[in-house]
Amino acid sequence: MRHFVGLRHIQKERLQHLIDVACEYRRQVAEGHDLTHVLSGRAVALMFVEASTRTRFSFEMACNRLGAHPLAFNAASSSTTKGETLLDTARVLRQVGADVIVVRHKCVGAPQQLAQTLGLPIVSAGDGPNEHPTQALLDLVTLHDHFSTFKGLRVGVVGDVRHSRVARSLCFGLKKLGADVVVAGPGPLCTPDLMALGATHQHKLDDVIGQVDALMMLRIQRERLGGSMLASEAEYRTFWGLTDARSAHMQDHAIVLHPAPMNRGVEIDDVVADGPRSVIFDQMKNGVFARMAVLNDVMGQS
Ligand code: CP
Repeated sequence: MRHFVGLRHIQKERLQHLIDVACEYRRQVAEGHDLTHVLSGRAVALMFVEASTRTRFSFEMACNRLGAHPLAFNAASSSTTKGETLLDTARVLRQVGADVIVVRHKCVGAPQQLAQTLGLPIVSAGDGPNEHPTQALLDLVTLHDHFSTFKGLRVGVVGDVRHSRVARSLCFGLKKLGADVVVAGPGPLCTPDLMALGATHQHKLDDVIGQVDALMMLRIQRERLGGSMLASEAEYRTFWGLTDARSAHMQDHAIVLHPAPMNRGVEIDDVVADGPRSVIFDQMKNGVFARMAVLNDVMGQS
């Protein structure tokens, strides 16, 4: 049984293979190949118990491209509102014929729990502040497009590190592939666990900007922030926002990433998000191919 619930323990070879498969799928789609035979007749339950736009729709598109049936799940109109547990809901999806369950949940460890108990491949679409492995995969595909190699690459991860499953999964992936990670964020939003993985820590965005090949700007996660963690969004922008003036200090070749949704005018300004360094919308496009690679991987195709 193959799952894809995090990058913490993934083998480097599997991760590298997933990047290669995602790039190959992208090439084949661009050339007009029909890939609907790959997962023809399979059913993929999309159990999103937390809000999503990109991840949900890119999984749905990934299913369509590979010929699988996406089974949409709407938490608000499901029997979870009557008290049905996550595990029982997942059992329902298994019993009606799902071959794999993609789950997003606010609770850390929810996908891992299903993976241990359900007897069906589980893919994490993000669990609380823990991991978002398919986001990291699409980020790695995007970085690979620009730099071809991860060895010696320096990637800055900046902002609300504490609540960021994106930061955690990306850091696991980058370190496995030989890249250097520099982490920075306001004191209360910067936890030491990424440093324990070998990421270096800087206290100011201005100390990161000029030394990295790529800068991942993290979203301020209003839904997970306690009131006391952030003085104001205006103050956040002053010290941690990627403004036009700040981005001018990046190396000429350096690129800007963001997992989105963006808080424009807070962690990133419009002129940067929509500017020439930005690969943010490429990331979203790569999400479909990354998720095609993962679905293919967990359903036992080569
Ligand atoms: N980046 C990301 O996970 O976006 P969604 O929450 O819209 O899926």
